[in-house]
Order: sequence, then C-alpha cells, then structure tokens
Amino acid sequence: MRRVYLDNNASTPVLPAVLQAMQPYFTEHFGNASSIHHHGQETRAAVERAREAVALLVGCRASEIVFTSGGTEGDNLAIFGLLSSGLLRSGLVRGGDHVISSTIEHHAVLNSCKQLEAEGCNVTYIRCDARGVIDPEDVRRAVRPNTKLITIMMANNETGVLQPVEAIGKIAAEADVYFHTDAVQAAGKVAIDVIAIGCDLLSISGHKMHAPQGVGALYVRKGTHLQPLFHGGRHERSRRAGTENVPGIAGLGKAAELAREGLASGEVRRMGDLRDRLESGLLGEIEFCGVNGADTRRVPNTTNIYFDHVEGEAFVIALDLKGLAVSTGAACSSGALEPSHVLTAMGLDGDRARASIRFSLGKQNTSEDVDFALGLVPETISRLRELSPVYNGKKPLAASS
Ligand SMILES: Cc1ncc(COP(=O)(O)O)c(C=O)c1O
Repeated sequence: MRRVYLDNNASTPVLPAVLQAMQPYFTEHFGNASSIHHHGQETRAAVERAREAVALLVGCRASEIVFTSGGTEGDNLAIFGLLSSGLLRSGLVRGGDHVISSTIEHHAVLNSCKQLEAEGCNVTYIRCDARGVIDPEDVRRAVRPNTKLITIMMANNETGVLQPVEAIGKIAAEADVYFHTDAVQAAGKVAIDVIAIGCDLLSISGHKMHAPQGVGALYVRKGTHLQPLFHGGRHERSRRAGTENVPGIAGLGKAAELAREGLASGEVRRMGDLRDRLESGLLGEIEFCGVNGADTRRVPNTTNIYFDHVEGEAFVIALDLKGLAVSTGAACSSGALEPSHVLTAMGLDGDRARASIRFSLGKQNTSEDVDFALGLVPETISRLRELSPVYNGKKPLAASS
C-alpha cells in the first residue's frame, strides 16, 4: 500500500545526507569527544563543526550553542537553569519569582511552568487571540518587578502560527527580563536570528528538522548563567554534563546546514506552495471546514483544519487505513479524549477542536503526496459524515433510544 506521511511536526525522516554525515561516528570514528588522543580529537572536531553549523542557523556564536537531547531538555534547561541560578538580574532567588508564558505552549514549557508554580514561583499565562497569536502588549502589561523570565514559543506545533517574538524580545530587553523562545517548530521553516529576536535562550530539536530523534540544541546568550540540570563532567562548558551524542550532533549539524540551504534556495517556499495547494484544495472541495490560525503568519509546512461533524480520531484512523498519516491535537487522558489546549485557547468549542486535523509537510513530500491527500480526504470526510447524526439532521442515537 502506498503510504504518505504528512505528520512532520510530530517527527521528520532523517534525510539521506544527514544519515551519511552521521554514519562514520557509529563505526570508524567512535572516540569520546573528551579524549585527548586521535580518536577523541576526530569526534571533538565533528562536534565543533556541528556547533558552527547550528550557530549559523540561528545567528549566534558557536560558543553559545549547548547540545541537548532534544526540545524538551532545551526548554527545561532554559527554564529551570535560569530560575534556579541564584544569579538573576535583580538578585532574587526562586520562591516568589514571576515568569510569563502563554496558554498555547508545548507541554515541555507548560509543564515546566506548572512545576515552577509547585515550587513557589508565580506564572502568568498570556492568552492568545482567535488566530492563535499572543499580543506583545499583554506581555508588557504582565511584567512585574520580580519577573525573571518570559518564555513564549516562536511557532506553534499544532497550528504553525508564528508569534511576534521580536516585539516580545524588545519588551523583555526594556524590562531587563530574560527571554526564552521555543523555536522547535520554527527551525528550518523560517529564518531564525537570535539577535533580531532579542532572546537570551532559544531551543531547537533535531527530529523536527530531519535530524534524528534524541538530539537538540539550546542557544544560551553569552553571559547568561544557567544552573545545569545534570551533574557530572564539564561537557558543553559545564552547561550540560554527559558524553556527547556525537552521531546525533553530527546529524544535527548537517540538518542545520541543509535547513539554511533550503531557506536560501527556495526549497522551503516550494514546501509552502504544496501546503497552500493542499489547504485550498481541501477548503474548495469540502463544506463546513476552515483553517485554524488563518489570517496570520504561519510556518510554511503546517495547516490545521476543522471539519465539522467529524470525529478527529476516527478520521485519523480512517486515513491511516488508506495510507495517509496526519494527526489530531487531541490528547487521550484517562480514557477521555481531551480537545487540544491550543485550539480551545483560540476559542474553539470542544466539538470543533476535536474535529480538527493537522497536516504537516516535510522536505521529502512531493506534489504527488498532496494529490494523494486531496484524493483521499474529501471522500473519507463524506463517509464519516454519513455516520454523523448531526450532519444528517438525525437525532443522536443515544437520544432516540
Ligand atoms: C514546540 C515544541 N516544543 C518542544 C517539543 C519537544 O521536543 P522533543 O520531542 O525534541 O523533546 C516539541 C515536540 O513536539 C514541540 O513541538
């Protein structure tokens, strides 16, 4: 059966050139990058080359990049590293400190903030508007004398909506507050310049940009003191203890290089054209649907669409049986399907949020993949709606029995 993968915001395939760049570090170049002999020097050189490549992708110095195990660790290192540092700009320590975040963050940030609250911090969660955008003026109004950190994402993982991070960076600088942005879903899809953003910390993840799972990086602006999460050796300039994942880091370096090339060559724009064709094709063919996060800037690979009178999970399964992989933002907790916190924050009711599907493209996707989705989705929606009592004007089964 033909299979088309349009769930690249969940994870991307490792590109052949990335795999090729990693392969020698599993076999002939296996040394510990901290060893002073030949084998260690080879892997150390690979790690430093990758650091340069990642630094170029985000516009910083190589020494400002810390390799991590992925986006979750980068977010945690930024948030807990800063809040427990004791070297905060106004000299206060953790209990009683104030943090500003948003209601639409990934759980790597949201649950870190919940943990901060459990440890005595106050957190303000800024709400987004109906398009999924945070108003920088709300961030400005939320700043207090004891605010230590603003952590607001660059691109949302469910809708692809881009946040006004440059404006938030300005507000953070004026207020002398640290600013972290989770750029996991932005890297490789839009240009990133940490100086223009004005952030002190920025996290990225390998597996969202065609490098492997289990590797990532955190930009730490020079002079930003972070308390490490792990205690051990002096790896990564004492910011992240643990022997480096050299193959993963080499892969991330190659993926960063390809990401820059893709942005410069128009490859990313072509991906945006495919996304647009998919989106307008579906909107044109299907009634009672619309884009979540329309009318604002989005990363070019993502579209999140609600299809009223369809149950999202049943839809994902029906498409999967026909070979198309997409996803719903709904999370299954204790047997009940919770609607996505991002979509409900945008004001969607539970039914519409549960009827929403994310299509996310990657560099491997082709025009034929979009044709495949355009051929499959409308007929699957029709079939599922046939079963919907609301759509057919029938009473729900439970009510009629
Ligand atoms: C916006 C965002 N932040 C953080 C993460 C976590 O990254 P990782 O899976 O590398 O831990 C993800 C993963 O989905 C994400 O989309």
